[in-house]
Amino acid sequence: MVMTKEKSILRVVGISGSLRRESFNRKALQTAKKIALEMGVDVDEIDLKELNIPMYDGDIESNGFPDAVQRLRNKVESADMLIIATPEYNHSISGALKNAIDWLSTGKNILDGKTAAIFGASNGLFGTMRAQAHLRQILNALNVIIAPQPQLFIRSAKEAFALDGSLSDQKLFLQMQKLIKKTIELTVLIKENKQ
Ligand SMILES: Cc1cc2nc3c(=O)[nH]c(=O)nc-3n(C[C@H](O)[C@H](O)[C@H](O)COP(=O)(O)O)c2cc1C
Repeated sequence: MVMTKEKSILRVVGISGSLRRESFNRKALQTAKKIALEMGVDVDEIDLKELNIPMYDGDIESNGFPDAVQRLRNKVESADMLIIATPEYNHSISGALKNAIDWLSTGKNILDGKTAAIFGASNGLFGTMRAQAHLRQILNALNVIIAPQPQLFIRSAKEAFALDGSLSDQKLFLQMQKLIKKTIELTVLIKENKQ
């Protein structure tokens, strides 16, 4: 279990921006969860498909957050760190992920001051490089802290995963370990300085 000096436990949520059941990004997130667990950190996964939040609409918001949105906001609010696996759709992040971020940012920005480990898997040669650049920009606007390095691009995703869904490409696996470790360290530092 990772704790700060003051013995407060690190809370982490994981989100896949792809809703697809057999999604490579869902698979990558499972690997990230296992890596985090080996480092003593339990990741609470938020399933955007199950939550089924509506499209952001100011008229809906003015009547109060819908239950699913409130559940999403509560889970993220109680977390110190996020792990986000993003697909690349037309050189950007998925609508589902952007919509979730929009709901988290409106009214009180729930993401303010949290850290995030971001990565993504795609079938293309760039492995979500362009989507991740957009995701960094969006999260930057919301005061989410992301380590500049390491970055993780899971390209040619069809070849990167084993039949059991684990990330079998060793180079990528090691890169993911570095990314999770770095972000946990960053999160502990920030949490300790807030206390
Ligand atoms: C609407 C749409 C747009 C896409 N655009 C891109 C793209 O710009 N770059 C890319 O590498 N792959 C693109 N893809 C292919 C995805 O990388 C591929 O479907 C991948 O499996 C999606 O992630 P997932 O497996 O987590 O669902 C696109 C797929 C869809 C459905």
